[in-house]
Amino acid sequence: MTPMDPARADRLQSLGVVPYRLRAPTTSVDQPWETLKAEVARCTRCALCDSRTQTVFGTGALDAELVVVGEAPGAEEDRRGEPFVGRAGQLLDAMLQAAGWAREQVFIANVLKCRPPGNRDPSAEEIERCLPYLGRQLQSLAPRAVLCVGRVAAQALLATDVPIGRLRGRVHAGPGGLPLVVTYHPAYLLRSPGEKAKSWADLKLLRATLGLRRGG
Ligand code: URA
Repeated sequence: MTPMDPARADRLQSLGVVPYRLRAPTTSVDQPWETLKAEVARCTRCALCDSRTQTVFGTGALDAELVVVGEAPGAEEDRRGEPFVGRAGQLLDAMLQAAGWAREQVFIANVLKCRPPGNRDPSAEEIERCLPYLGRQLQSLAPRAVLCVGRVAAQALLATDVPIGRLRGRVHAGPGGLPLVVTYHPAYLLRSPGEKAKSWADLKLLRATLGLRRGG
């Protein structure tokens, strides 16, 4: 916990406000988290370990209120070891920014930690083997909400095969009961810019779910 300036605490108390404390700084080294990261880095649970350059664990704030979940690393992410760094990533950053979050304020991860060759869809077996890692990340991060971008992330985390068009537009109970909102994948929005308005509505729903009023 970060200690609060005593003068500020007094001022808040005199206003009848219960002072709160910030959670641990994002740079703190949390042992189970580092252990999980190391475990993912040497994972051989599926054949993708043979073709990957490296695993893509996820990046962002460890005290994030929001975790964004995508599908799997692409070629650029596999090279750089970071999620959403290609064109789709730029659009994701812009979407988050418009909704009031800088990329560094959220945590971004994927269902799969390794790139499927040729950017093919992840197989059901790959998802099944990799999903427990995301489950442990969510448990450890304990965000206030999850945003799934794209069908693969939404269907995996909600354990359903309902099409994305019917999953978006409402708040689901995600893993551990976490509020979970679904929207289109930015790569899809790059191909179908006409759908951006729906995505914006999803982001507004997400903000409302978190009790946030402003944002773009
Ligand atoms: N698409 C994803 O779903 N994840 C990435 O990290 C990059 C592109």
